[in-house]
Amino acid sequence: MKILLLGGSSFLGRAYAVEALARGHQVTTFNRGRSAADLPGVEAVRGDRDSAEDLARLIDGRTWDAVVDTSAQQPAQAVLTARLLRERAGHYTFVSSVHAFADWPARVIGEDSPLHPCPADTPPDQPFSAALKAGCERAVLEGFGAGRSLVLNSGLLIGPYEIGGRLPWWLERMARGGRVLAPGDPHRTMQVIDVRDFAAFGLDLLTAGTAGRFLTTAPPGRLSFGEWLETCRTVAGATDTELVWVPDAPLLAEGPDRVEPWSELPLWAPDLPEIAGTWLADTGRAEAAGLRCRPFAETARDTWDWLRTRGPAEDTAADGRKGRPGTATPMGIEPGKERRLLAALA
Ligand SMILES: NC(=O)c1ccc[n+]([C@@H]2O[C@H](COP(=O)([O-])OP(=O)(O)OC[C@H]3O[C@@H](n4cnc5c(N)ncnc54)[C@H](OP(=O)(O)O)[C@@H]3O)[C@@H](O)[C@H]2O)c1
Repeated sequence: MKILLLGGSSFLGRAYAVEALARGHQVTTFNRGRSAADLPGVEAVRGDRDSAEDLARLIDGRTWDAVVDTSAQQPAQAVLTARLLRERAGHYTFVSSVHAFADWPARVIGEDSPLHPCPADTPPDQPFSAALKAGCERAVLEGFGAGRSLVLNSGLLIGPYEIGGRLPWWLERMARGGRVLAPGDPHRTMQVIDVRDFAAFGLDLLTAGTAGRFLTTAPPGRLSFGEWLETCRTVAGATDTELVWVPDAPLLAEGPDRVEPWSELPLWAPDLPEIAGTWLADTGRAEAAGLRCRPFAETARDTWDWLRTRGPAEDTAADGRKGRPGTATPMGIEPGKERRLLAALA
C-alpha cells in the first residue's frame, strides 16, 4: 500500500515508518525536518502542516491508500489535512489520546465515554489543552468521513526514541545508583504501550480498512509500578541501587519539598479520587481486534540499549534533568531534593 505519515520521523511516527517499510509498503513522510531525520527508504517531503503552500506541495500529483496522522495537536491542523486528503487517500488514521475524554483521568473510560466539547472549528494556535485532541477527532470525522476514519486514543507511549521521556528518566536514575525514592504503592498497576506494538496494531487495522475508535494501550492490571521500577533497575544493571518506598501522603504534603506527581517522579499517579481512572482505560475492543503488547522487560531493555548508543540528548537541562522539548519544567526530581526527602521520610 501507499501510506502517507503526517509526521513519520520521531517516536510513534517513526515506529509506524519502520513497521510499514518492513511490511513492504511505500511510505511518504511529511514533516519540517526539525525533530529527527527521516528513515532511509521513505519518500520525505519537507513542510509545515500549518502552511497551505507546503501542503499543496505535498499533494502535488500524489495519492495514497491511507494516511496516518500522529502530529495534529490543533483542530485547525486536522481540518486542513482531512479536507485536502479526502480525494487523495482512502483511509485516515488519527492518533488521538486518552486526553480527549472528558472523564479521564478521574474515571474508567471506554470508547463510548463522552469527549471534551471542543469543536472542529476551534481557531488555530490555541494554548495546549487536553480538549484539543477531541476537536482534532471531530475535524477528521467531519472532513474525511466517519466510514473511512480510524481514531486511536493512545495511552502513555514508551519505547526506543522517546526523547525526554519517562522511561529513559527512570532507567538513567537507576543507573546513577544510590537510594532511589520509589513513590506510592508498589502494587498499584499502570497502563503503558510500546510504540512498536501501537504501530503494528494501527497498521493491521489500516490494511484491513477498519473505521471507528479504539482505546489503544496495554490492558489494565498488566504491570505494577513495583515491577516497572524493579525491571528498570535490572535492565540498567543497577544491582547496588536501593529502592526506598515512600507512601503517597508524605510526598504530597504541602511545603517546599512537596513532590509533583507525574513529572517529578515520572508516571507516579498517587491514590487520589481526581485521577482514580488514570490507568484503567478499557482496552477490550482493541484486544478483541488483535492488539498484542510485548512484555515490559523487552521495551525497557530495547530503550536502554538505545539510550546507551544514541548521541547526547539535546533536551537535557543544565542540571541533567530532562523535559519534553518546548516545556519549561524539566522532568525528574532534583537530586538534592530526593536526598532530603529520603533522609526525612524513609
Ligand atoms: N507520547 C505519549 O505518551 C502520548 C500519549 C497519548 C497520545 N499521544 C499522541 O501520539 C502522537 C504521537 O506522539 P509522538 O510523541 O510520537 O510525536 P509528536 O511529537 O506528536 O509528533 C512529532 C512528529 O510530527 C512532526 N510535526 C510536528 N509538528 C509539525 C508541523 N507543524 N508540520 C509538519 N510536521 C510536524 C514532527 O516532525 P518535525 O518536528 O520535524 O516537523 C514529528 O515527525 C501525538 O499526536 C500525541 O499527542 C502521545
